[in-house]
Amino acid sequence: MPSRETATRPEWDVARAQEILQAKKHIPGALLPILNALQEEFGYINPDFVPEMADALNISRAEVHGVITFYHDYRQEPPGRHIVKICRAEACQSMGGRELEAHVKSRLGGYHGKSATGEYTLEPVYCLGNCACAPALMIDGKLHGRVTKEKFDALTAKKGKAG
Ligand code: FES
Repeated sequence: MPSRETATRPEWDVARAQEILQAKKHIPGALLPILNALQEEFGYINPDFVPEMADALNISRAEVHGVITFYHDYRQEPPGRHIVKICRAEACQSMGGRELEAHVKSRLGGYHGKSATGEYTLEPVYCLGNCACAPALMIDGKLHGRVTKEKFDALTAKKGKAG
């Protein structure tokens, strides 16, 4: 699912969200493109906007909410300035991914939400297509392979305080 994986996301803006909604509400199967566009724009989907989407698409609020919660990539709160996606699939797990994950969690806190500094949001993914260079993770949309604890620390040191 597309997402603006940079530190330059704007604050949630109802007028801008409405523009996105109005621009896309007539396309077939509009809900997913709308949700994708909102997350791309703001980094998350404000749950307060569910009624507007339901009304515009003539579906129930429960249906909109159900789709948002079904797809784990959709965030319902603003992420940290930097987003770390760590691979938890087999190839990475067998190449030290578990130890790397434990280290990353110790630096950034648990999944979703934000790190103690508010700089990072950590999300699990299941294969980044970089299995040959396991273990892999992605920081702000940039893929990194053969990541060690030290390499992770160096990568995040360039971006901002991890924890
Ligand atoms: S299993 Fe981790 S990148 Fe494929």
